[in-house]
Amino acid sequence: MKVFAILGSRNPEGQTARATAALIEGIAAAGGDAQQAFLPLLQVERCRQCEENGWGICRREGRCVIEDDFAALAQRIREADAVVFSNPVYYSDLSESLRAFTDRLRRVCAHESGRQGIADKPAIGICVAGGGGGGAPAAIVTLEKVMRSCRLDVVDLIPVRRQNLAMKETVLRVTGRWFAEDRK
Ligand SMILES: Cc1cc2nc3c(=O)[nH]c(=O)nc-3n(C[C@H](O)[C@H](O)[C@H](O)COP(=O)(O)O)c2cc1C
Repeated sequence: MKVFAILGSRNPEGQTARATAALIEGIAAAGGDAQQAFLPLLQVERCRQCEENGWGICRREGRCVIEDDFAALAQRIREADAVVFSNPVYYSDLSESLRAFTDRLRRVCAHESGRQGIADKPAIGICVAGGGGGGAPAAIVTLEKVMRSCRLDVVDLIPVRRQNLAMKETVLRVTGRWFAEDRK
């Protein structure tokens, strides 16, 4: 199984990356492999709400007019067998980078051609509250909503806080293994 993990963190050594790495370890143990993208290191603008009614060619053609890294990321999702969204919790919510990406993804998925290869794709969401530790459950509810707006098949959602990260790494390894084995 080929998995594409999209992280809203810029830090490959950070807590979001640690949680994601544990899931990927589990996936690898079941023979899968995963690639990762760190959104803040890429260029993904926020939606321009191009036209007066707030829509744009996203609705008519299933693509976005902005020429940045968005289209290539959406394509990498289409080419994967499954997708993971890993979010560092900011203000009990999604990070700005993950929000910008998913805002645009759900718009292109409103059109049949845009959602081709994305709709019904198995997906896992992770939210890591790495500061005080609050807000992961609230963020995971939002993440579920945006993943479902993208028509993904949300298979599991895992809230993590700084204080339970080590324990959740074990849960994530088991989840990754189960996720890959279940889809063999
Ligand atoms: C703007 C901002 C808001 C944050 N809000 C929260 C929060 O609501 N709850 C929390 O536990 N941590 C919060 N944090 C800490 C992040 O969750 C923490 O930095 C992140 O999980 C770890 O990021 P990393 O994966 O890039 O290491 C916030 C951090 C920033 C920068």
